[in-house]
Amino acid sequence: MPDVLDVKEKIKKVAVLGAGDMGHGIAEVCAIAGYEVTMRDIKQEFVERGMNRIRESLAKLQEKGKIENADEILSRIKPVVEMEEAVKDADLIIEAVPEVFEIKMQVFSECEGLAKPECIFTSNTSTMKITELAKATKREDKFAGLHFFNPVVLMRLVEVIRGEKTSEEVMQLLVEFVKSLGKEPVRVEKDVPGFIVNRIQAPSGALLMAIIEKRIATPEEVDATMKGIGLPMGPFELMDYTGVDIFYHAMKYYSETISEDYAPSEILENMVKSGNLGKKTGKGWYDWSKGRPVIEAKPSDRVSPLDFTIVEINEAVKLVEMGVAKPEDINKAVKLGLNRPFGPFELAKSMKVEQIVSRLEELSKEFEKEVFKPTESLKAGKLPVD
Ligand code: 3HC
Repeated sequence: MPDVLDVKEKIKKVAVLGAGDMGHGIAEVCAIAGYEVTMRDIKQEFVERGMNRIRESLAKLQEKGKIENADEILSRIKPVVEMEEAVKDADLIIEAVPEVFEIKMQVFSECEGLAKPECIFTSNTSTMKITELAKATKREDKFAGLHFFNPVVLMRLVEVIRGEKTSEEVMQLLVEFVKSLGKEPVRVEKDVPGFIVNRIQAPSGALLMAIIEKRIATPEEVDATMKGIGLPMGPFELMDYTGVDIFYHAMKYYSETISEDYAPSEILENMVKSGNLGKKTGKGWYDWSKGRPVIEAKPSDRVSPLDFTIVEINEAVKLVEMGVAKPEDINKAVKLGLNRPFGPFELAKSMKVEQIVSRLEELSKEFEKEVFKPTESLKAGKLPVD
Protein backbone atom coordinates (compact mmCIF):
# COMPACT_ATOMS: atom_id res chain seq x y z
CA MET A 1 0.00 0.00 0.00
CA PRO A 2 1.58 3.33 -1.02
CA ASP A 3 1.94 5.89 1.78
CA VAL A 4 2.05 9.65 1.54
CA LEU A 5 5.83 9.61 0.95
CA ASP A 6 5.33 7.27 -2.01
CA VAL A 7 2.67 9.59 -3.36
CA LYS A 8 4.95 12.61 -3.23
CA GLU A 9 7.64 10.47 -4.88
CA LYS A 10 5.35 9.31 -7.67
CA ILE A 11 3.33 12.46 -8.18
CA LYS A 12 5.23 15.72 -8.37
CA LYS A 13 3.50 17.55 -11.18
CA VAL A 14 -0.24 17.83 -11.60
CA ALA A 15 -2.02 19.14 -14.70
CA VAL A 16 -5.51 20.52 -14.07
CA LEU A 17 -7.53 20.88 -17.27
CA GLY A 18 -10.16 23.60 -16.93
CA ALA A 19 -9.88 26.79 -14.84
CA GLY A 20 -13.57 27.20 -13.98
CA ASP A 21 -15.43 26.68 -10.70
CA MET A 22 -13.94 23.25 -10.08
CA GLY A 23 -10.63 23.50 -11.99
CA HIS A 24 -9.36 26.60 -10.21
CA GLY A 25 -10.26 25.11 -6.80
CA ILE A 26 -8.54 21.80 -7.61
CA ALA A 27 -5.40 23.62 -8.82
CA GLU A 28 -5.45 25.68 -5.61
CA VAL A 29 -5.66 22.71 -3.21
CA CYS A 30 -2.93 20.84 -5.12
CA ALA A 31 -0.62 23.87 -4.89
CA ILE A 32 -1.42 24.31 -1.17
CA ALA A 33 -0.35 20.67 -0.67
CA GLY A 34 3.01 21.42 -2.35
CA TYR A 35 2.48 20.00 -5.85
CA GLU A 36 3.72 21.80 -8.97
CA VAL A 37 0.59 22.58 -10.98
CA THR A 38 -0.21 23.59 -14.53
CA MET A 39 -3.76 24.94 -14.91
CA ARG A 40 -4.96 24.91 -18.49
CA ASP A 41 -7.97 26.42 -20.22
CA ILE A 42 -8.73 27.13 -23.87
CA LYS A 43 -8.43 30.93 -23.66
CA GLN A 44 -5.98 33.21 -21.90
CA GLU A 45 -8.85 35.16 -20.30
CA PHE A 46 -10.27 31.94 -18.74
CA VAL A 47 -6.95 30.99 -17.14
CA GLU A 48 -6.48 34.54 -15.92
CA ARG A 49 -9.94 34.57 -14.35
CA GLY A 50 -9.11 31.24 -12.66
CA MET A 51 -5.80 32.65 -11.35
CA ASN A 52 -7.60 35.71 -9.96
CA ARG A 53 -10.07 33.51 -8.12
CA ILE A 54 -7.20 31.48 -6.65
CA ARG A 55 -5.44 34.70 -5.62
CA GLU A 56 -8.58 35.96 -3.84
CA SER A 57 -9.21 32.63 -2.15
CA LEU A 58 -5.59 32.30 -0.94
CA ALA A 59 -5.75 35.85 0.44
CA LYS A 60 -8.88 34.88 2.45
CA LEU A 61 -7.20 31.73 3.76
CA GLN A 62 -4.09 33.68 4.74
CA GLU A 63 -6.18 36.33 6.49
CA LYS A 64 -7.74 33.53 8.58
CA GLY A 65 -4.34 32.01 9.39
CA LYS A 66 -5.11 28.79 7.50
CA ILE A 67 -2.06 29.24 5.24
CA GLU A 68 1.05 31.39 5.67
CA ASN A 69 2.59 31.74 2.25
CA ALA A 70 -0.01 32.68 -0.35
CA ASP A 71 2.58 34.07 -2.80
CA GLU A 72 4.71 30.95 -2.66
CA ILE A 73 1.64 28.74 -3.20
CA LEU A 74 0.54 30.87 -6.14
CA SER A 75 4.01 30.63 -7.69
CA ARG A 76 3.56 26.84 -7.89
CA ILE A 77 0.65 27.26 -10.35
CA LYS A 78 1.51 27.89 -13.98
CA PRO A 79 -1.43 29.13 -16.06
CA VAL A 80 -1.28 27.78 -19.62
CA VAL A 81 -3.34 27.60 -22.80
CA GLU A 82 -1.28 25.08 -24.79
CA MET A 83 -2.31 21.50 -24.02
CA GLU A 84 1.19 20.15 -24.67
CA GLU A 85 2.77 22.53 -22.19
CA ALA A 86 0.12 21.60 -19.61
CA VAL A 87 0.47 17.82 -19.72
CA LYS A 88 3.88 16.88 -21.14
CA ASP A 89 5.65 16.58 -17.75
CA ALA A 90 2.59 15.75 -15.65
CA ASP A 91 2.46 12.70 -13.38
CA LEU A 92 -1.28 13.17 -12.83
CA ILE A 93 -3.92 14.83 -14.98
CA ILE A 94 -7.19 16.00 -13.40
CA GLU A 95 -9.76 16.92 -16.04
CA ALA A 96 -12.38 19.50 -15.07
CA VAL A 97 -13.71 20.69 -18.46
CA PRO A 98 -17.46 21.15 -19.21
CA GLU A 99 -19.80 18.23 -18.48
CA VAL A 100 -20.21 17.25 -22.12
CA PHE A 101 -19.15 13.70 -22.97
CA GLU A 102 -17.76 14.53 -26.44
CA ILE A 103 -15.63 17.40 -25.09
CA LYS A 104 -14.16 15.20 -22.36
CA MET A 105 -13.42 12.39 -24.85
CA GLN A 106 -11.71 14.84 -27.20
CA VAL A 107 -9.58 16.27 -24.36
CA PHE A 108 -8.49 12.83 -23.15
CA SER A 109 -7.60 11.59 -26.61
CA GLU A 110 -5.51 14.72 -27.18
CA CYS A 111 -3.73 14.16 -23.85
CA GLU A 112 -3.01 10.52 -24.71
CA GLY A 113 -0.57 11.56 -27.43
CA LEU A 114 1.12 14.26 -25.32
CA ALA A 115 1.45 12.87 -21.77
CA LYS A 116 4.12 10.51 -20.40
CA PRO A 117 3.16 6.81 -20.62
CA GLU A 118 3.14 6.49 -16.81
CA CYS A 119 0.95 9.57 -16.23
CA ILE A 120 -2.34 8.82 -14.44
CA PHE A 121 -5.47 10.29 -16.03
CA THR A 122 -8.47 11.28 -13.90
CA SER A 123 -11.79 12.98 -14.51
CA ASN A 124 -13.67 15.24 -12.11
CA THR A 125 -16.93 14.42 -13.90
CA SER A 126 -20.06 14.77 -11.74
CA THR A 127 -21.85 11.83 -13.28
CA MET A 128 -20.28 10.11 -16.28
CA LYS A 129 -19.07 6.52 -16.42
CA ILE A 130 -15.30 6.45 -15.96
CA THR A 131 -15.09 3.22 -17.99
CA GLU A 132 -16.50 5.04 -21.05
CA LEU A 133 -14.23 8.09 -20.68
CA ALA A 134 -11.17 5.81 -20.29
CA LYS A 135 -11.84 4.45 -23.78
CA ALA A 136 -10.54 7.72 -25.24
CA THR A 137 -7.06 6.58 -24.09
CA LYS A 138 -4.78 3.56 -24.31
CA ARG A 139 -4.24 3.51 -20.53
CA GLU A 140 -7.54 2.33 -19.11
CA ASP A 141 -5.72 0.76 -16.12
CA LYS A 142 -4.28 4.19 -15.25
CA PHE A 143 -7.60 6.01 -15.57
CA ALA A 144 -9.95 6.78 -12.66
CA GLY A 145 -12.47 9.29 -11.35
CA LEU A 146 -11.41 11.97 -8.86
CA HIS A 147 -14.58 13.82 -7.95
CA PHE A 148 -14.23 17.01 -5.87
CA PHE A 149 -17.05 19.07 -4.35
CA ASN A 150 -17.78 22.77 -4.70
CA PRO A 151 -16.27 24.91 -3.18
CA VAL A 152 -13.21 22.66 -3.49
CA VAL A 153 -11.16 24.57 -0.91
CA LEU A 154 -13.78 24.06 1.81
CA MET A 155 -15.42 20.72 1.03
CA ARG A 156 -13.55 17.77 2.54
CA LEU A 157 -14.77 14.89 0.38
CA VAL A 158 -13.20 13.49 -2.78
CA GLU A 159 -14.75 10.40 -4.40
CA VAL A 160 -12.11 8.08 -5.90
CA ILE A 161 -13.91 6.15 -8.61
CA ARG A 162 -12.89 2.84 -10.12
CA GLY A 163 -13.56 2.24 -13.81
CA GLU A 164 -13.84 -1.37 -15.00
CA LYS A 165 -10.13 -1.48 -15.90
CA THR A 166 -8.63 0.80 -13.22
CA SER A 167 -5.80 -1.01 -11.42
CA GLU A 168 -5.86 -1.41 -7.63
CA GLU A 169 -2.42 0.25 -7.48
CA VAL A 170 -3.80 3.39 -9.13
CA MET A 171 -6.84 3.40 -6.79
CA GLN A 172 -4.56 3.19 -3.74
CA LEU A 173 -2.21 5.86 -5.03
CA LEU A 174 -5.15 8.21 -5.65
CA VAL A 175 -6.56 7.53 -2.18
CA GLU A 176 -3.20 8.58 -0.72
CA PHE A 177 -3.02 11.56 -3.08
CA VAL A 178 -6.41 12.77 -1.78
CA LYS A 179 -5.17 12.37 1.81
CA SER A 180 -2.06 14.38 0.91
CA LEU A 181 -4.41 17.25 -0.03
CA GLY A 182 -5.82 17.10 3.52
CA LYS A 183 -9.10 15.72 2.16
CA GLU A 184 -11.14 12.61 2.91
CA PRO A 185 -11.23 9.98 0.17
CA VAL A 186 -14.17 7.62 -0.30
CA ARG A 187 -13.68 4.69 -2.65
CA VAL A 188 -16.43 4.17 -5.22
CA GLU A 189 -16.02 0.61 -6.43
CA LYS A 190 -18.35 0.80 -9.45
CA ASP A 191 -18.76 3.75 -11.76
CA VAL A 192 -22.54 3.93 -11.81
CA PRO A 193 -23.88 7.26 -13.14
CA GLY A 194 -23.57 9.92 -10.40
CA PHE A 195 -21.32 7.73 -8.19
CA ILE A 196 -22.39 8.16 -4.53
CA VAL A 197 -23.25 11.75 -3.58
CA ASN A 198 -24.74 12.96 -6.85
CA ARG A 199 -26.50 9.64 -7.45
CA ILE A 200 -28.21 9.80 -4.08
CA GLN A 201 -29.46 13.25 -5.00
CA ALA A 202 -30.78 12.09 -8.39
CA PRO A 203 -34.27 11.08 -7.14
CA SER A 204 -34.49 14.05 -4.76
CA GLY A 205 -33.57 16.26 -7.75
CA ALA A 206 -36.44 14.69 -9.72
CA LEU A 207 -38.77 15.28 -6.77
CA LEU A 208 -37.65 18.92 -6.55
CA MET A 209 -38.41 19.54 -10.20
CA ALA A 210 -41.77 17.76 -9.96
CA ILE A 211 -42.75 20.00 -7.03
CA ILE A 212 -41.93 23.10 -9.10
CA GLU A 213 -43.63 21.83 -12.26
CA LYS A 214 -46.80 20.93 -10.39
CA ARG A 215 -46.64 24.29 -8.61
CA ILE A 216 -46.86 22.62 -5.22
CA ALA A 217 -44.39 25.16 -3.80
CA THR A 218 -41.96 27.85 -4.99
CA PRO A 219 -38.16 27.38 -4.93
CA GLU A 220 -37.99 29.87 -2.03
CA GLU A 221 -40.53 27.87 -0.03
CA VAL A 222 -38.70 24.61 -0.71
CA ASP A 223 -35.37 26.17 0.34
CA ALA A 224 -36.81 27.76 3.48
CA THR A 225 -38.31 24.38 4.46
CA MET A 226 -35.12 22.41 3.80
CA LYS A 227 -32.84 24.92 5.56
CA GLY A 228 -35.13 24.47 8.54
CA ILE A 229 -33.87 20.89 8.96
CA GLY A 230 -30.22 21.92 9.22
CA LEU A 231 -28.94 21.90 5.63
CA PRO A 232 -26.28 24.57 4.95
CA MET A 233 -28.09 25.65 1.75
CA GLY A 234 -31.54 25.01 0.35
CA PRO A 235 -31.53 22.74 -2.74
CA PHE A 236 -32.34 25.53 -5.23
CA GLU A 237 -29.73 27.83 -3.72
CA LEU A 238 -27.24 24.96 -3.95
CA MET A 239 -28.25 24.33 -7.58
CA ASP A 240 -27.52 27.98 -8.35
CA TYR A 241 -24.27 27.80 -6.39
CA THR A 242 -22.94 24.74 -8.28
CA GLY A 243 -24.54 25.71 -11.63
CA VAL A 244 -28.01 25.12 -13.08
CA ASP A 245 -26.24 23.77 -16.19
CA ILE A 246 -24.42 21.17 -14.07
CA PHE A 247 -27.76 19.98 -12.65
CA TYR A 248 -29.32 20.00 -16.14
CA HIS A 249 -26.48 17.93 -17.66
CA ALA A 250 -26.68 15.48 -14.76
CA MET A 251 -30.45 14.98 -15.17
CA LYS A 252 -30.05 14.58 -18.92
CA TYR A 253 -27.32 11.99 -18.42
CA TYR A 254 -29.44 10.10 -15.85
CA SER A 255 -32.40 10.15 -18.26
CA GLU A 256 -30.19 8.52 -20.90
CA THR A 257 -28.49 6.01 -18.59
CA ILE A 258 -30.90 5.24 -15.70
CA SER A 259 -34.51 6.17 -16.44
CA GLU A 260 -36.63 8.52 -18.56
CA ASP A 261 -38.07 9.69 -15.22
CA TYR A 262 -35.04 11.96 -14.94
CA ALA A 263 -35.65 13.84 -18.22
CA PRO A 264 -34.96 17.54 -17.51
CA SER A 265 -38.12 19.61 -17.24
CA GLU A 266 -38.97 22.41 -19.65
CA ILE A 267 -38.37 24.99 -16.92
CA LEU A 268 -34.83 23.74 -16.50
CA GLU A 269 -34.19 23.61 -20.25
CA ASN A 270 -35.39 27.18 -20.65
CA MET A 271 -33.15 28.38 -17.84
CA VAL A 272 -30.11 26.81 -19.48
CA LYS A 273 -31.07 28.12 -22.95
CA SER A 274 -31.44 31.65 -21.63
CA GLY A 275 -28.13 31.50 -19.76
CA ASN A 276 -29.64 31.73 -16.27
CA LEU A 277 -27.07 29.36 -14.79
CA GLY A 278 -27.01 30.63 -11.21
CA LYS A 279 -24.20 32.31 -9.28
CA LYS A 280 -21.74 32.32 -12.19
CA THR A 281 -24.06 34.31 -14.48
CA GLY A 282 -25.64 36.41 -11.70
CA LYS A 283 -29.11 34.88 -12.12
CA GLY A 284 -30.63 31.43 -11.73
CA TRP A 285 -33.49 30.54 -9.42
CA TYR A 286 -32.27 33.58 -7.49
CA ASP A 287 -30.64 36.92 -8.25
CA TRP A 288 -26.95 36.69 -7.29
CA SER A 289 -25.92 40.11 -8.61
CA LYS A 290 -25.62 41.46 -5.06
CA GLY A 291 -24.11 38.31 -3.53
CA ARG A 292 -25.70 35.35 -1.80
CA PRO A 293 -29.52 35.57 -1.96
CA VAL A 294 -31.56 36.24 1.14
CA ILE A 295 -34.42 33.76 1.31
CA GLU A 296 -37.44 35.48 2.73
CA ALA A 297 -40.13 32.80 2.25
CA LYS A 298 -41.52 30.87 5.21
CA PRO A 299 -41.23 27.06 5.39
CA SER A 300 -44.20 25.43 3.66
CA ASP A 301 -46.24 22.50 4.97
CA ARG A 302 -46.84 21.47 1.35
CA VAL A 303 -43.18 20.35 1.23
CA SER A 304 -42.08 17.42 3.37
CA PRO A 305 -38.33 17.15 4.06
CA LEU A 306 -39.01 13.52 4.97
CA ASP A 307 -39.99 12.75 1.36
CA PHE A 308 -36.56 13.90 0.16
CA THR A 309 -34.90 11.82 2.86
CA ILE A 310 -36.93 8.76 1.94
CA VAL A 311 -36.15 8.83 -1.80
CA GLU A 312 -32.47 9.33 -0.95
CA ILE A 313 -32.50 6.35 1.45
CA ASN A 314 -34.03 4.22 -1.32
CA GLU A 315 -31.25 5.27 -3.72
CA ALA A 316 -28.59 4.62 -1.05
CA VAL A 317 -29.95 1.08 -0.63
CA LYS A 318 -29.73 0.59 -4.41
CA LEU A 319 -26.03 1.63 -4.29
CA VAL A 320 -25.30 -0.97 -1.62
CA GLU A 321 -27.25 -3.62 -3.59
CA MET A 322 -25.18 -2.80 -6.71
CA GLY A 323 -21.88 -3.08 -4.77
CA VAL A 324 -20.96 0.59 -5.33
CA ALA A 325 -20.02 1.36 -1.71
CA LYS A 326 -20.55 0.26 1.89
CA PRO A 327 -23.28 1.94 4.02
CA GLU A 328 -20.71 3.64 6.27
CA ASP A 329 -18.90 5.09 3.24
CA ILE A 330 -22.20 6.33 1.83
CA ASN A 331 -22.99 8.09 5.12
CA LYS A 332 -19.51 9.62 5.22
CA ALA A 333 -19.67 10.73 1.57
CA VAL A 334 -23.07 12.43 1.94
CA LYS A 335 -22.06 14.21 5.16
CA LEU A 336 -18.69 15.46 3.87
CA GLY A 337 -19.75 16.06 0.25
CA LEU A 338 -22.80 18.14 1.16
CA ASN A 339 -21.95 19.33 4.69
CA ARG A 340 -25.03 17.62 6.01
CA PRO A 341 -25.43 16.62 9.65
CA PHE A 342 -26.54 13.03 8.86
CA GLY A 343 -26.05 10.37 6.19
CA PRO A 344 -29.01 8.45 4.67
CA PHE A 345 -28.50 5.26 6.69
CA GLU A 346 -28.20 7.23 9.93
CA LEU A 347 -31.55 8.86 9.15
CA ALA A 348 -33.08 5.52 8.15
CA LYS A 349 -32.32 4.11 11.60
CA SER A 350 -34.92 6.38 13.16
CA MET A 351 -37.64 5.13 10.76
CA LYS A 352 -39.56 1.94 10.26
CA VAL A 353 -38.81 0.14 6.99
CA GLU A 354 -42.59 -0.27 6.36
CA GLN A 355 -43.01 3.50 6.71
CA ILE A 356 -40.27 4.09 4.10
CA VAL A 357 -41.75 1.51 1.72
CA SER A 358 -45.32 2.76 1.90
CA ARG A 359 -44.31 6.42 1.41
CA LEU A 360 -42.15 5.42 -1.59
CA GLU A 361 -45.16 3.63 -3.13
CA GLU A 362 -47.29 6.74 -2.59
CA LEU A 363 -44.67 9.09 -4.07
CA SER A 364 -44.17 6.83 -7.06
CA LYS A 365 -47.94 6.90 -7.74
CA GLU A 366 -48.43 10.61 -7.03
CA PHE A 367 -45.58 11.75 -9.28
CA GLU A 368 -45.78 8.83 -11.76
CA LYS A 369 -42.10 7.99 -11.31
CA GLU A 370 -40.75 4.44 -11.32
CA VAL A 371 -37.48 5.66 -9.79
CA PHE A 372 -39.28 6.32 -6.48
CA LYS A 373 -40.40 2.68 -6.20
CA PRO A 374 -38.90 0.87 -3.20
CA THR A 375 -36.01 -1.52 -3.86
CA GLU A 376 -36.43 -5.26 -3.41
CA SER A 377 -34.53 -5.39 -0.12
CA LEU A 378 -36.60 -2.58 1.39
CA LYS A 379 -39.77 -4.38 0.28
CA ALA A 380 -38.44 -7.49 2.00
CA GLY A 381 -38.17 -5.39 5.16
CA LYS A 382 -34.38 -5.14 5.13
CA LEU A 383 -32.09 -2.16 5.49
CA PRO A 384 -28.40 -2.90 4.73
CA VAL A 385 -27.43 -1.51 8.15
CA ASP A 386 -29.61 -4.02 10.03
N1 3HC B 1 -11.93 30.21 -0.60
C1 3HC B 1 -11.73 30.68 0.64
N2 3HC B 1 -12.74 30.97 1.47
C2 3HC B 1 -14.00 30.79 1.01
C3 3HC B 1 -14.28 30.28 -0.28
C4 3HC B 1 -13.17 30.00 -1.10
N3 3HC B 1 -13.31 29.51 -2.35
N4 3HC B 1 -15.62 30.19 -0.43
C5 3HC B 1 -16.17 30.62 0.71
N5 3HC B 1 -15.21 30.97 1.59
C6 3HC B 1 -15.37 31.51 2.93
C7 3HC B 1 -16.27 32.73 2.94
O1 3HC B 1 -15.56 33.86 2.56
C8 3HC B 1 -16.72 32.76 4.37
O2 3HC B 1 -15.73 33.38 5.14
P1 3HC B 1 -16.13 34.36 6.37
O3 3HC B 1 -16.82 33.45 7.35
O4 3HC B 1 -14.82 34.89 6.84
O5 3HC B 1 -17.02 35.40 5.75
C9 3HC B 1 -16.77 31.28 4.77
O6 3HC B 1 -16.05 30.57 3.76
C10 3HC B 1 -18.17 30.74 4.86
O7 3HC B 1 -18.89 31.10 3.70
P2 3HC B 1 -20.30 31.84 3.73
O8 3HC B 1 -20.37 32.81 4.86
O9 3HC B 1 -20.55 32.34 2.34
O10 3HC B 1 -21.40 30.76 3.94
P3 3HC B 1 -21.56 29.39 4.72
O11 3HC B 1 -21.22 29.49 6.16
O12 3HC B 1 -22.91 28.90 4.35
O13 3HC B 1 -20.50 28.39 4.08
C11 3HC B 1 -20.49 26.74 2.35
C12 3HC B 1 -20.42 28.22 2.69
C13 3HC B 1 -19.30 26.00 2.94
C14 3HC B 1 -20.41 26.66 0.83
C15 3HC B 1 -21.81 26.13 2.92
O14 3HC B 1 -22.92 26.92 2.58
C16 3HC B 1 -22.07 24.72 2.40
O15 3HC B 1 -21.53 23.76 2.90
N6 3HC B 1 -22.96 24.60 1.39
C17 3HC B 1 -23.21 23.33 0.75
C18 3HC B 1 -22.14 23.11 -0.28
C19 3HC B 1 -22.31 21.79 -0.99
O16 3HC B 1 -23.21 21.02 -0.73
N7 3HC B 1 -21.39 21.54 -1.94
C20 3HC B 1 -21.46 20.34 -2.76
C21 3HC B 1 -22.26 20.60 -3.98
S1 3HC B 1 -22.39 19.18 -5.04
C22 3HC B 1 -20.94 19.18 -5.90
O17 3HC B 1 -20.12 20.05 -5.80
C23 3HC B 1 -20.71 18.01 -6.82
C24 3HC B 1 -20.66 18.46 -8.25
O18 3HC B 1 -20.41 17.30 -9.02
C25 3HC B 1 -21.92 19.14 -8.72
